Amino acid sequence: MQDAFNFDAPPQQPASADGRKPMGDDPAAAIQQLRQLLERYAHAYYVCDAPEVPDAEYDRLYRELEALEAAHPALVTDDSPTQRIGAPPLSAFEQVLHRVPMLSINNAFSAEEVEAFDQRCRDGLGLSIGDSPIDYACEPKFDGLAISLVYQDRRFVQGATRGDGTTGEDVTLNLRTIHSIPLHLSAKAPIGRFEVRGEVLIRREDFARLNADQEAAGEKRFANPRNAAAGSLRQLDSAITASRPLTFFAYGIAGLEAVSFTDASLPTTQSDILSWLATLGFRVAETRAVVSGAPGLLAYYDQMAQKRPGLAYDIDGVVYKVNRLDQQVRLGFVSRAPRFVIAHKFPAEEALSRVLEIAVQIGRTGAVTPVARLEPIFVGGVTVTNATLHNFIEIARKDIRVGDTVVVRRAGDVIPEVVSSLPDRRPLDEHGQPLYALMRCPEICPECGSHVELPPDEAVARCTGGLVCPAQRKQALKHYASRRAMDIEGLGEKVVDQLVEAGLVHSPADLYGLTVSQLAALDRFAEKSAENLVVAIRRSCNTRLERLIYALGIRNVGEQTAKDLARHFGSLDSLMSADLDRLMQVPDVGPVVADSIMAFFAEAHNREVIERLRNAGVHWEDVALAASSGLLNGKTVVLTGTLPTLTREDAKALVEAAGGKVAGSVSAKTSFVVAGDAAGAKLEKAQSLGIEILDEATFLQRLQS
Ligand code: IVH
Repeated sequence: MQDAFNFDAPPQQPASADGRKPMGDDPAAAIQQLRQLLERYAHAYYVCDAPEVPDAEYDRLYRELEALEAAHPALVTDDSPTQRIGAPPLSAFEQVLHRVPMLSINNAFSAEEVEAFDQRCRDGLGLSIGDSPIDYACEPKFDGLAISLVYQDRRFVQGATRGDGTTGEDVTLNLRTIHSIPLHLSAKAPIGRFEVRGEVLIRREDFARLNADQEAAGEKRFANPRNAAAGSLRQLDSAITASRPLTFFAYGIAGLEAVSFTDASLPTTQSDILSWLATLGFRVAETRAVVSGAPGLLAYYDQMAQKRPGLAYDIDGVVYKVNRLDQQVRLGFVSRAPRFVIAHKFPAEEALSRVLEIAVQIGRTGAVTPVARLEPIFVGGVTVTNATLHNFIEIARKDIRVGDTVVVRRAGDVIPEVVSSLPDRRPLDEHGQPLYALMRCPEICPECGSHVELPPDEAVARCTGGLVCPAQRKQALKHYASRRAMDIEGLGEKVVDQLVEAGLVHSPADLYGLTVSQLAALDRFAEKSAENLVVAIRRSCNTRLERLIYALGIRNVGEQTAKDLARHFGSLDSLMSADLDRLMQVPDVGPVVADSIMAFFAEAHNREVIERLRNAGVHWEDVALAASSGLLNGKTVVLTGTLPTLTREDAKALVEAAGGKVAGSVSAKTSFVVAGDAAGAKLEKAQSLGIEILDEATFLQRLQS
């Protein structure tokens, strides 16, 4: 434990974590309070483009209000937040009455809800079990803001926001500045009046640049691309809008009835509409698809969830639309949403939680990272109890303290982080002062007592203990054993902790001296797993230079840099003796990385670890040298069975580096086969064709000859 840096758990909060007073049995007062809170959050979100709470928190309060109003219908008034579809139009802009209302879409959050949607559509269309599945057009749900564009005789004449769905704001001049909105359409477009519906957004890389520019200009950063897009579009001076990197994606049309198609090729499906819009010069989602039935919808959802982190823009779910327009018409609408559309939302990436404690973690290179221990919170699809606070400058900038209600963000597989704190939900003492002080950077390492250093221009403080610090030692070992480094199976977090705490392992080289009996003596360690671990450690003796360089855990040297260095230097000795100039000849190695490498090898204890690894039988350079030999130029090699030390991936890389090719099956063209344990059909075939068969040791020898 790191007592000096832990705070007591915060005291019990008032009944409600959102700062509301408990209202007991007074539904009118509770409704009143909820409405005030919702109005405030809606104003911050829609008018100021600066959300105070995550969407999920707004939705939670909204649903609470809905439920209360449903239980007490007499208390519903038409100015309740539940009685409007979207945001009110901003008075500064002219109002536009949407000829076809801009509806909302119902949401689904689970596979069951999606299946129920499909069933409702089938029922609505009178389909029974034997009938074929419905075709759906699937699209990403863009996380931007809805826009309607009116074209009259192929010219863009008016553009508006959604507003409350009936009336929006006239933002024509601002929309004209967006390059992905065609100002006039080609002769392929119909004559007459029609509306294109879609979403204005800011792509992620544009957003990053915009925020950097904002910061450089001393302006406030935007919370997210969506708010930046909304803020940019609602500018009264369209020159400002023009300077913002807005993009428009079309997802549908309205009022098509009023146009006369010269070639009578009226689209008959949603997917036709999108293709047609694309030919007219609009951007449409590249990741759209037509699928069949509920299984098709769920497969599309999974696919998009996978693709999401790599997309150029934020999406908050996917949208399913019955593809055939005639079926859409038959299904019609319920109150404010069409029956033929549903949005399948991704789990929210932001949610509220409370900071129970702030702990300090020491990383592999000594970085001192404050971590918030949280009340468990479901966010981004998992339950989170720890979130990084990055560093002490960030804690101060965001003013985050123990007891605070905070926004926690978990996007994709990124480490959860504390984004901000809600100051008006902070626990106060009897004098109205914050109960907890702002946490400062510790001056000594809570793990080893070494001095903590905070270089003047750096945000990250570091423990100066090096491998003396057990925390750094543990992290260094975990990294060394990790899959992309030395890939020692069975040497995970818990085992490393045990080994270090038992004093058995101080540096990676100590691993190679471990015996089965030493391991079996550890808590919860069976004889069998001890044997397996010793074998796994021995296996790691045969490795590639790039893996070793990465495994050493040199600051600023990631997997790619390790590869570049291995390729450039060919051996560890030549890397170790390289000076700054030579290091900087490696592509993508700049002064910072070069400095870290020099500093690492300048440390006597690091050189000693390398020497001890060599003495323990770990080898890498021979293999690496062989790799560039071209020894296997023009040769085709087949790998089969489990090799004693090399992974399949490593063996393949060796063959390729030596100029050879790895093939999946044995044929007359196969030069030789490398066979390990449990080799089957391929081995037999090679034998029957009289092709040379090598075991791993012979294969490695051959590479070194
Ligand atoms: S179709 C009748 N398609 O989601 C429904 N909407 O939650 C027409 N949205 O305000 C909308 N991506 O702005 C549709 N591919 C997409 C969409 C999409 C985002 C937005 C839309 C609407 C909101 C409803």
